Amino acid sequence: MTNKYKINVNGIDQNIEADENTPLLYILRNHLKLKGTKFGCGDGICGACTIIMDGLPIFSCDTPIWSAAGKEIETIEGLSKNGIHPLQEELINEQAGQCGYCLSGITMRIKGLIDKDPSKTVDDIANELDRNLCRCGSQTRILKAVDNYLKKVS
Ligand code: FES
Ligand code: FES
Repeated sequence: MTNKYKINVNGIDQNIEADENTPLLYILRNHLKLKGTKFGCGDGICGACTIIMDGLPIFSCDTPIWSAAGKEIETIEGLSKNGIHPLQEELINEQAGQCGYCLSGITMRIKGLIDKDPSKTVDDIANELDRNLCRCGSQTRILKAVDNYLKKVS
């Protein structure tokens, strides 16, 4: 059933009209043209679609719009609205990520976890990144970037 929903995306209120079960990922990419959040498996497995909702990293592909109503959402585009984010700087410095397709979701998971709890360690983040697939073998460089970032924020 089509309904009206209000969500806040990267600090901007958005009024959305969509079927209640439309995945938040489709709303971001198709309605709001925020293409930085990627469609991978579409089934809650790969992590490419990870965004931050009310401070927690979640998969946007299996989050229906009805459950996002009234929530604050941050996407990869929101990270750099005031210039490149320090976490992105570290990922670039370490050349972490070869394809860029999974890196948006990986970046958002790392950002969300450290925002929520800056006392997290690299090992904690490594465990949580289990939910974001990367097949190019960049995990070591991604974790080096996380280590550098943690030193900046802690
Ligand atoms: S596209 Fe959402 S987890 Fe794979
Ligand atoms: S960054 Fe995409 S496969 Fe590793």
